[in-house]
Amino acid sequence: MQKIRKAVIPAAGYGTRFLPVTKATPKEMLPIVDKPTIQYIVEEALASGIEEILIISGHGKRAIEDHFDSAPALEMELAKKEKTDLLKIVRETADINIHYIRQRYMRGLGDAILCAKTFMGNDPFAVLLGDDVVYNPEKPALKQLIDIYEATGGSVLGCQNVPDDQVSSYGIVAGSETENDRLMRVSDMVEKPSREEAPSHLAVLGRYIIKAEIFDLLEKTKPGKGGEIQLTDALRVLAQQDVVYAYAFEGQRYDLGDKLGFLKATVEFALRREDLGEPFKDYLKQLAKGL
Ligand code: G1P
Repeated sequence: MQKIRKAVIPAAGYGTRFLPVTKATPKEMLPIVDKPTIQYIVEEALASGIEEILIISGHGKRAIEDHFDSAPALEMELAKKEKTDLLKIVRETADINIHYIRQRYMRGLGDAILCAKTFMGNDPFAVLLGDDVVYNPEKPALKQLIDIYEATGGSVLGCQNVPDDQVSSYGIVAGSETENDRLMRVSDMVEKPSREEAPSHLAVLGRYIIKAEIFDLLEKTKPGKGGEIQLTDALRVLAQQDVVYAYAFEGQRYDLGDKLGFLKATVEFALRREDLGEPFKDYLKQLAKGL
């Protein structure tokens, strides 16, 4: 079986839900405390054993490339002032092996993934979506999926159950149970169904292991929901001709595509910080008293 060595992170979208900040700043660069969201995603990929990362970039996304580059003037200044801790932080992101390609027209997630075709070749690969950050200090969500892929040989979609009123925000899967409580064999998928149409509450939440056959299917996929080429539509066909699993991964997942979700992530990640956690908790307690 081929190992999962490569991952693609789509980051070309306009981020319209976060205007006006996304007018001149890539959404992926918005920080949770002091780290851009895309860095959490990249770190999860590396912690899961990924060796090569491809970021699908686009117009106005140069800041992402700068972030994962060296910063000679800043590094010299920090070295001169012997600020070794900061120098380490700055250099950490420069040493990661990241490749970039631009999606020229915003035609949807499926089209963004298709941009990775040449980079992936015939290798099965991982997809991580920047809107979904998962906290699991024991085992990253992506690593959980890789383990399932290695045990089964099938493509794997990272899922969790969502409430009734949220099914219309996600790709929802239908399938049959397996011996593993957390694992389902996918028989069908629908992109952002209405409550009535939804075949279950199991939503795909931004982590995938996909076999390279998906590229041929994506090339044949017609625009679907919202007039966009949907990854879900191609995965649906893949599930009919090959084995695709849905795995209910463990971890606290934050929806950064949503303002409230972003605020929750900011608060919870700040509370977990050694340097900020205690004083921030005290502040929140005081604040809550006055509410
Ligand atoms: C995308 C996918 C959807 C998936 C979701 C996870 O939607 O199309 O199937 O469930 O990400 O966050 P988006 O939120 O980009 O519209």
